Amino acid sequence: MQEFQQRFNSGSLKFDDVTNRYGASDRPVFPMWVADTDFPPPEMVNHGLSHFLSSHFGYQQLAVTAAVSQWHWRRGEYIDESSIVDCCSIIAAMGIALESLTRPGDKVGIFIPSYGPFFAVTEKTQRKICPLTLDISDGNVHMDLSSLPDDLSAVLFCNPHNPTGRLWQRDELEALAEWCTQRNIPLICDEVHRGFIAEGNEFVSLASIGEAFQNNIIVLQSPSKSYNLAHVPAAAYAIIVNQQWRDTIRASITRSHLFAGALARQALILAYDELNDLWLQTMEEKISENRALLTRLLHNSSLLACIPQSTFFLWLDLRDYLNHVAPGVAADYLFKRTGIAANDGADFRSPGFVRLNFATSGEVIKHVGELLLTISSNK
Ligand SMILES: Cc1ncc(COP(=O)(O)O)c(C=O)c1O
Repeated sequence: MQEFQQRFNSGSLKFDDVTNRYGASDRPVFPMWVADTDFPPPEMVNHGLSHFLSSHFGYQQLAVTAAVSQWHWRRGEYIDESSIVDCCSIIAAMGIALESLTRPGDKVGIFIPSYGPFFAVTEKTQRKICPLTLDISDGNVHMDLSSLPDDLSAVLFCNPHNPTGRLWQRDELEALAEWCTQRNIPLICDEVHRGFIAEGNEFVSLASIGEAFQNNIIVLQSPSKSYNLAHVPAAAYAIIVNQQWRDTIRASITRSHLFAGALARQALILAYDELNDLWLQTMEEKISENRALLTRLLHNSSLLACIPQSTFFLWLDLRDYLNHVAPGVAADYLFKRTGIAANDGADFRSPGFVRLNFATSGEVIKHVGELLLTISSNK
């Protein structure tokens, strides 16, 4: 595996947009915001893509379905190839699903905090956001189904959860799927962060839970996070068992030319090769070391909002440290005090918090951990 990359002056958004977004700093700067990792993709993918670019041109006939179903099969999930629909991006597929299965003005349930584009795509498609607040206490994140309003037309969900790293358990997933099935509404679940699960935890895909619920579930996935392919980006795909929904969504993706391009499909096929399973496991171990180190360091500090069980994110609560809570204030405070550039909680509709991306070298993480401790001990 190639080593961690310092990407200043490389055109990397995460590194080279820091000054523009956070301002100039006379301290060393630690770019820990947008969700890519500082580790290059598997070499086989890089080589394969270069070869593809130099040897193919024009329209390509390339299907991702076999690669997708085999990748899931190796993880104990049986996905019928006919249920797979590719798309250029997860959020595009989410927008198409909302447009296809709900009507303008309909209420869409979204848990707070959640990845910002869930809100943006709901608004862009003229649906109404119905905020469903997650309770974050005792180092855990709790979802209360009894508080869900009965008039929702769809639920947008994320497992593993971005930004908290909460891994939803089988019984919680089944309860939510049952809730949606009883009301016959789609449960649209983004599972893009499933690559990095903390030791001792198990990821359960909604695509693998009870058949009784499958007609109401749409799972969205792509290799772009696990294999660090946001620059291509790799093809995304939806797993849709409900044939009527699948046909409608596929037709809409085709009509709007939002299917994945040939390079994106080739990136998925290369990344999902069995030969990269070991690479992914090694990455997972590196990420887990960083997660464990930061959680151990911050365990007794009020900064750590919850203990992450997955992803490369830490959800930090800065509300006790701020003069006032408003969008942008928490990230600004952290950057000015430490040089750490993290996403502001307002990006997830939770001002006062920040999301820190720890997919970087262990050396940087040690340094960042010490910087975070200086904040909590100076309170
Ligand atoms: C939860 C989640 N979903 C989707 C995306 C983006 O996916 P795409 O670019 O395929 O729309 C991200 C990117 O960070 C993400 O964190």
